[in-house]
Amino acid sequence: MIPVWFIILMLISFTWLFYESDWMRIRLTVGRITKAIPKVRPSKIQPVFAVKNINAGYGDVVIVHDVSIYVNEGEIVAVVGPNGSGKSTLLKSILGFARLFQGKVVYCGEDITGIASDRAVSMGIGYVPQVNNVFPNLTISENLDMGAYHRKGRASIKAGIREIFEMFPELEVRKNALAGNLSGGERQMLAIARAMMAQPKVLLLDEPLASLSPKPVSVILSKLGKIKETGTAIIIVEQNVRKALSVSSRGYVLVEGTCAMEGEASSLFAEESSKQRFLGLEAKGIDTDLASRHN
Ligand SMILES: Nc1ncnc2c1ncn2[C@@H]1O[C@H](COP(=O)(O)OP(=O)(O)O)[C@@H](O)[C@H]1O
Ligand SMILES: [Mg+2]
Repeated sequence: MIPVWFIILMLISFTWLFYESDWMRIRLTVGRITKAIPKVRPSKIQPVFAVKNINAGYGDVVIVHDVSIYVNEGEIVAVVGPNGSGKSTLLKSILGFARLFQGKVVYCGEDITGIASDRAVSMGIGYVPQVNNVFPNLTISENLDMGAYHRKGRASIKAGIREIFEMFPELEVRKNALAGNLSGGERQMLAIARAMMAQPKVLLLDEPLASLSPKPVSVILSKLGKIKETGTAIIIVEQNVRKALSVSSRGYVLVEGTCAMEGEASSLFAEESSKQRFLGLEAKGIDTDLASRHN
């Protein structure tokens, strides 16, 4: 004779299982019923990295107002805007280099608001600042070693450097050169490569194309495409709107610290209604020649 309490317990358990589909899906992967479960996995649609309603600045001054951005695994998004619009401040506030007054930073579903920069790196958040992003007195190899400080064991670091040199053969050729003697393009490449040594899930790049001539710009952009293919998400902050959008799937336009526009990279500036603001950006010196950006 089955006790009544046991039947009630079973009924509650099955009802719970039915509604907790995530859990059910995990459990059923070991069973035959898996085929009947739709393969929509919440982890795939959850952004790898997001900032929500950020207010940030310095001292008591708020520079960035209520900005929200997100990036998915293997996606590049651009944050563009004129000089002084708060792009760097936004990135800095994520890592504690600028003051975060309000808002949330979420990484892989976890609230990491206010995280220390070294902890962020070890969790998989790579940050490449606009300037002073390499050690000029160290060689390329030594810079890469520094980027792997949290990796355990010489073998792991060596394997990391091998992978990086496959992606950046230009750096291998000059691996014993001092970073301070590199060209602007090589230096940016090294800064990105160094961040990649920490095996980030998301890369935050602050103006990697600034002051570069067209050739190194296209080299850097092709490297970003390769990094994206590995699954790493990239947020690229840039004044070079056309180039940044050419490799991005979506974009955000920051103007005077607020998000003036956001959308698909290919259609960001297409809407008739946005032309006024678009011209406003042009007046502030932003690159608006977008006609050929996806050519
Ligand atoms: N360390 C700082 N202290 C105070 N104000 C700053 C600091 N850094 C930048 N600012 C100011 O914040 C504003 C936004 O700067 P920034 O985020 O660097 O813009 P962007 O990266 O879009 O060019 C500017 O007005 C700038 O003068
Ligand atoms: Mg900046």
